[in-house]
Amino acid sequence: MTEKIRPLLAGNWKMNGTRDSLTEIKAIAEAITPAQALKVEALLCPPATLLYVTTALCQDSPLAVGAQDCHQHRSGAHTGDISAEMIADCFGTYVIVGHSERRRDHAETSELVRAKAEAAHAADLTAIICVGETLAERQQGQTIAVLQKQIEASVPQGSTAQNTVIAYEPVWAIGTGMVPQPSEIAEAHSFLRSDLVTRLGRTGKSMRLLYGGSANPSNAAALVGIENVNGLLVGGASLKAVDFIAMYGACLKQPA
Ligand code: PGA
Repeated sequence: MTEKIRPLLAGNWKMNGTRDSLTEIKAIAEAITPAQALKVEALLCPPATLLYVTTALCQDSPLAVGAQDCHQHRSGAHTGDISAEMIADCFGTYVIVGHSERRRDHAETSELVRAKAEAAHAADLTAIICVGETLAERQQGQTIAVLQKQIEASVPQGSTAQNTVIAYEPVWAIGTGMVPQPSEIAEAHSFLRSDLVTRLGRTGKSMRLLYGGSANPSNAAALVGIENVNGLLVGGASLKAVDFIAMYGACLKQPA
């Protein structure tokens, strides 16, 4: 049921990074060659304040640049928010939506996440839609049911493998150093794959499924070696160029 998929290594800088960090971004941009990027795509999502300068820095690099969130509307009276159009205007090509920190800190529902993903698609951005269970939900054996609900409500009808990436991020694994067992990740990803195929048909076969949550240079190779894991969404360990590049190398080493 699996198809050949170009993996994606995505860095989510969250609320980290000032102009000083541009040296790290430049180092990452310079390390990735076009030939490598044909095998594994690399993406950095800096804070919105660095978005435009980052895309300018990456002009001659295959490193893709994205944002960490967008508003569901194109424009209007929404103080502090940015729209998908604004991200595209800064030459960003991706946007993360529905990260668990936004679901938690800003009470974002899956329905809102879907509206944001639709806004991303309308602006020709690729939406990285995040899903994942809390520790309590896992302990109660609800992981698959939670994922099913989140996918059903968050993923727009008509999503394609080009404009949508799904990131499985167990909430309890984010920033904690705790990583699920490989069998647990495999189970979640296998469910996501079959659920997406049921919903979207052929598209679901080639949609990229990322794992996120305490991924780092030491565990990256093992994580991307799990079936149906088509890359990583990395927070803390994406902040240093040396770590990002090491994880990128681990992704490249995966047999095609
Ligand atoms: P982490 O975060 O790699 O720091 O655990 C991952 C994420 O939240 O995307």
